[in-house]
Amino acid sequence: MLDAARLIGNVDMFPVLQHWVFFNHAGVCPLPRIAADQFKRYANQAQMQAYLHSNWYTDIEALRQLSARLIGAHRDEIAFVKNTSEGIAIVANGIDWQWGDVIVTTAIEYPANIYPWMDIARTRGVKLEMVPEETMPDGSRQVPIDAILKAASDPRCRLVALSLVEYASGQRHDVSRIGAFCRERNIRFCIDAIQAVGVMPVDVREMNIDYLSADGHKWMLGPEGAGIFYCRRELIEHMRPLAIGWMNVVNAQDYGNYDFTLRPDAGRFECGSYNVPGLLGLLGALTLIEQVGVEIIHARVQTLLERLHQGVSQKGYAIVSPRDASQRSGIFAFKAHGHSHDVIVKKLKEHHIEIAKREGRLRVSPHFYNTEAQIDQLIELLPSH
Ligand SMILES: Cc1ncc(COP(=O)(O)O)c(C=O)c1O
Repeated sequence: MLDAARLIGNVDMFPVLQHWVFFNHAGVCPLPRIAADQFKRYANQAQMQAYLHSNWYTDIEALRQLSARLIGAHRDEIAFVKNTSEGIAIVANGIDWQWGDVIVTTAIEYPANIYPWMDIARTRGVKLEMVPEETMPDGSRQVPIDAILKAASDPRCRLVALSLVEYASGQRHDVSRIGAFCRERNIRFCIDAIQAVGVMPVDVREMNIDYLSADGHKWMLGPEGAGIFYCRRELIEHMRPLAIGWMNVVNAQDYGNYDFTLRPDAGRFECGSYNVPGLLGLLGALTLIEQVGVEIIHARVQTLLERLHQGVSQKGYAIVSPRDASQRSGIFAFKAHGHSHDVIVKKLKEHHIEIAKREGRLRVSPHFYNTEAQIDQLIELLPSH
């Protein structure tokens, strides 16, 4: 295990700390040195000796096992994808939809978890039900779980597609409860987990998740373009792969036989050569995440966000993210009254502080290595009300 305390504010592991107070891990993360080093190793090996004497495929297998451990899955249930969208597209295009089926999602999903379903609705006669976000008595914005379950009670409901954590509010859904509801009714449960994996414990079995997709470039601290897709073992053989190439089959190395037998494991969703540098980078990053421990990372990020919550409340901002412990995530969203968000974000950037602006909200998403002093610096620079 790596001692998280030694990595907080550690410029050697997180060179971004030299120049930036970086609070947009819900956007695109900066790479820790351990991940960047993997790229350098790959580039050196590839330019000096191509694949000879490399152990890239052994490393990719290690990554498959590590990814499985991180979400409570088996390595046979993990496929590598180029991004979250690809994993969701595998689900959308892999199910034998029937005319009149219903898909339930929310009306505030990131488009990666909307357009694939809109496409299915348009082409296969499926109805898409989008449950709206509401303002709660405490002023926070949430999609109420009761509304999701009500929509999913439609006897034609075939699939619920949800982000584990909503990108603009930071709401963490009670996926265990929604997943149990779906499993009882034989409704498939598909999770966009890019805003969750790496910053909080995720367990696909405990959460009754059938499919999960997440690129590595946010909380996993990996590069863009290298992600993981989970498909529950029992469903794999019922799924038609999105793209067919030479690798989806059982005897992929047996070139001349043309034995077109799809693999029984999640490897059936992988159609050709891997994004080797991307996956090696992700391996470096996830090794770090695993050694620090997601429980510890989660607790640390909550400590930082609670400090921010106190600070922005005192300055008179309206809090958008749900503050109930069960609904918290790595994202903290809030709103100014009478100050332009554009001006705030620009001013912060001039001070080398990076936050995001999403759906009329200011969004702050620190990782475990950020410091209390950085949070205080941000609070200090925010205009008062
Ligand atoms: C909830 C959510 N899903 C998906 C994505 C990105 O999708 P992809 O990995 O396909 O680029 C984002 C990025 O902001 C996101 O917030």
